[in-house]
Amino acid sequence: SSIMKGGYEHYMQKEIHEQPESILQTMRGRVKFSRVVPKEGEAWDPYTERRIKLGGLAEYIPTIRRGRRLMFVACGTSYHACLACRQTMEEIAEMPVSLELASDLLDRRAPIFRDDMCVFVSQSGETADTMQALQYAKDKGALCIGVTNTVGSAIARSTHCGVHINAGCEIGVASTKAYTSQQVAITMMALALCEDSIRLRAQRDAIIDSLGTLPDKIRAVLKLDSKMLELAEQLKGEQSLLVFGRGYNYATALEAALKVKEVALMHSEGILAGEMKHGPLALVDEHLPIIVVATRDRMRGKMLSVLQQLRARGAQLIVLCNKGDSDIQDLCGKSCRLIQVPEVVECLQPIINIVPLQLLSYHLTVLRGFNVDQPRNLAKSVTVS
Ligand code: G6P
Repeated sequence: SSIMKGGYEHYMQKEIHEQPESILQTMRGRVKFSRVVPKEGEAWDPYTERRIKLGGLAEYIPTIRRGRRLMFVACGTSYHACLACRQTMEEIAEMPVSLELASDLLDRRAPIFRDDMCVFVSQSGETADTMQALQYAKDKGALCIGVTNTVGSAIARSTHCGVHINAGCEIGVASTKAYTSQQVAITMMALALCEDSIRLRAQRDAIIDSLGTLPDKIRAVLKLDSKMLELAEQLKGEQSLLVFGRGYNYATALEAALKVKEVALMHSEGILAGEMKHGPLALVDEHLPIIVVATRDRMRGKMLSVLQQLRARGAQLIVLCNKGDSDIQDLCGKSCRLIQVPEVVECLQPIINIVPLQLLSYHLTVLRGFNVDQPRNLAKSVTVS
């Protein structure tokens, strides 16, 4: 089985380190990056040759565009991938987007209509809650789109159309490479939905170009492995760990906390930084370790003020920021620990940011002596509801 793990100790570790390749697989044959030099007499149009081709979705794009809203339905980490991409979807597909945890959608029997476009996101494609929600939406006459990692899975078979994320088999119960590939797939879907928009061209092309840089940047961020081991050494005896994020990176905070909970068996909570003053601030003291995701994006000013408020209460801060971010360094001083990551276009930054936090939860688990690939009480695919 060590051969199966490609020289790694655990599947989770292998799958974290596979992400430069798994992400590339998700994009392979679907994202066309290159500009083509125009033929003689033709005008140079730098935009025309950046294309997204999603075979399983192409003929449904006009229908999806005519829908009244996009509803994403998922559980666990797959739900976090939807949350991470919601803003991108709203901005570049310009459609109302709602998110549903499959079990909650079913509990509420929430209204769904024929002109709803429902996207079911599932690594395994077999999760019972998601599958039942799919059946429910289908009965309501909605168009059902699957985003799965498993060709031939129940969800892949029962949806009208979809995208396979092609991340390769994921064995560790805690989802890692599927999470980043799901984000790439949903972002590609958003790009495919706005292909005709001239107004959005510049933004769209910036995202496509940035997708092309992801594998190398993930390779770079994986080099933080030994730093994350060091941080895990410092944190392994803690009772609890908070993770703050907002905007694009609210999902990063929730997903990092889920990883710490489910594999390292340490209490952890992801907190929307905008809600800090409405409760969580009461928890802050000199003892509780807090990770703040503060990479550069349009939430900058607000994030700096969150950091200031946490500093003022003497919090034990660990700040995830972009490399060479001197504002953060100045603000946080020597006492605070930094996790420095490469920068990409803001809507893709969550794909980079989760990687060091996956490494942290992996090392915490090993140091605390728990089972990495099979956390107690959990299953890879929950096929009962
Ligand atoms: C289980 C797994 C999680 C996973 C969730 C959804 O709870 O332990 O890691 O995120 O199911 O699984 P799916 O296969 O639908 O993405």
